[in-house]
Amino acid sequence: MSYTKINEAIWNKWSKEGYRWTQPISTEVFQKAKEGVWNVLLTPSIPVPKTWFGSLKGKKILGLASGGGQQGPIFKALGAEVTIMDLSDAQLEAERTVSEREGYDIKLVKADMTERFPFPDDSFDLIFHPVSNTYVENIEPVWQECYRVMKTGGQLLSGFTNPEIYLFNDADKLEDIRVVHPLPYNPLKDFTEKERAELIENDGVQFSHTMESQIRGQLKAGFLLKDFYEDFASTEDDYILSKYFPQFYASLAIKL
Ligand SMILES: C[S@@+](CC[C@H](N)C(=O)[O-])C[C@H]1O[C@@H](n2cnc3c(N)ncnc32)[C@H](O)[C@@H]1O
Repeated sequence: MSYTKINEAIWNKWSKEGYRWTQPISTEVFQKAKEGVWNVLLTPSIPVPKTWFGSLKGKKILGLASGGGQQGPIFKALGAEVTIMDLSDAQLEAERTVSEREGYDIKLVKADMTERFPFPDDSFDLIFHPVSNTYVENIEPVWQECYRVMKTGGQLLSGFTNPEIYLFNDADKLEDIRVVHPLPYNPLKDFTEKERAELIENDGVQFSHTMESQIRGQLKAGFLLKDFYEDFASTEDDYILSKYFPQFYASLAIKL
């Protein structure tokens, strides 16, 4: 089975189990957004600055690997035309549930971001890409596809993991933390069958990437970097090293 199929199955399973990133927003949160009170996350804790969006009214937005009913409904409440592309049926179903509950149209597309995106060139004003390229082995083609489907002047908002989180073992106590994985971390290559099976069972197939492929990958695709911030795991994540270094990054890039 391909690794993206494994990740699809894992996200469907996490959705059934009620994992945080599969929980749609409530009617109250949707109504508040209609009144102009809202925020969205690209990373676990810090809301994306409003200046990264400008007015969303009438904007064509692609939520890339962004199913689950967290951001799509907010963009709809703010008057955008929204397409959500995701590999997981359960994540798309969560989007459908919110759209039927609140009575709006949204385009839902089941597609794998490791392949050519199923959209013509110059389709979107804004791409919202929350932490998810950790589930893709080679991310440079993803940045290139974002560039292709983006209109000139469009914005790419991305969240991604700090590769250093993949250095460590999974321990419950700080004194048990050890550096165990050299980077870049790639479960398809560097592990025994048994280790690989365990890692995949717990986390899906994740890859650490380099900061060069995250940042320079966007620049090589043609984007210009406009802004950037660091973020930390949320208290819900209960990550033992959360106070020691930022685990997540978010970037704003522009297609000029
Ligand atoms: C952390 S969730 C992001 C969505 C969520 N709405 C959020 O706020 O963070 C990661 C998403 O990436 C999707 N995903 C993983 N691999 C993918 C792939 N190859 N192509 C498209 N989507 C993928 C998963 O199904 C999941 O919905």
